[in-house]
Amino acid sequence: MTATQIPTSFTPPLSGTVVTTGTIPFEQAKPRIEAIVAQDVNMVFNSEAGSFQALQDINLDIYQGEIQLLMGPSGSGKTTLLSILAGILTPTSGQVYLLGEEITAMSREQLSRFRLKNIGFIFQGFNLFPALNAVENVELALEVKGMKGGKRRRGEALDLLDQVGLADKADNLPKNLSGGQKQRVAIARALAGNPPLIMADEPTAALDSHSGHTIIELLRTLAKEGNRTVLMVTHDPRIMDVADRVSYLEDGVLKA
Ligand SMILES: Nc1ncnc2c1ncn2[C@@H]1O[C@H](COP(=O)(O)OP(=O)(O)O)[C@@H](O)[C@H]1O
Ligand SMILES: [Mg+2]
Repeated sequence: MTATQIPTSFTPPLSGTVVTTGTIPFEQAKPRIEAIVAQDVNMVFNSEAGSFQALQDINLDIYQGEIQLLMGPSGSGKTTLLSILAGILTPTSGQVYLLGEEITAMSREQLSRFRLKNIGFIFQGFNLFPALNAVENVELALEVKGMKGGKRRRGEALDLLDQVGLADKADNLPKNLSGGQKQRVAIARALAGNPPLIMADEPTAALDSHSGHTIIELLRTLAKEGNRTVLMVTHDPRIMDVADRVSYLEDGVLKA
């Protein structure tokens, strides 16, 4: 008998898709909700020098409440993949679903509204406004996210700074904050509006070991107690202790 081609059917994940594992006793089984899904994502950069395939056939499922790390050597495509999963870059092909919605099918306006509501992004260089103090930097994020009322925004911003242990530095300008403190302002700002997805590009890269540890603890608490999903690009081996899963990129290909 000759081998026959088995037709494969494509089933996109539905909103709130629930997966349970069969090996856990029933009363302990927790539903696992897919928060971030990538399907056959490819990214090709075209320039005068030619085209360069930065990502190849990426498939990834990240569940709600998990801390997922993305590691790999410099130039392996980590920032490119994170940017695609955050809707900052559009992949050349493939689909990305966040919280059950396909962001790769959204219009520019839909995507920007979705991102504002659902994603807190922590940039590598903090990206704080130098002329605004710590609390004003967080207030601005709340304003951009549509929170009305200056007093309400001030109160919420102070709450967020308190959560990251920085209430006493609310009036400091970025230049009068240490690297670890600036990073915490950046995290408070990413938490503005309570987004369910937190994404960070090397959040501890510029920090000494003590501040690095504080940031790692904070991100762990956010994921475990706030049921948020945290996706982090990192080189930091200390973060591996708190991660639920680690994926490695090598030359644009995801290994495990
Ligand atoms: N806009 C771009 N145009 C052309 N090549 C790019 C662009 N952005 C990234 N690349 C290339 O894609 C590869 C992956 O880059 P990146 O995602 O920044 O890697 P990593 O974050 O792992 O260091 C690198 O070879 C980089 O030079
Ligand atoms: Mg990078």
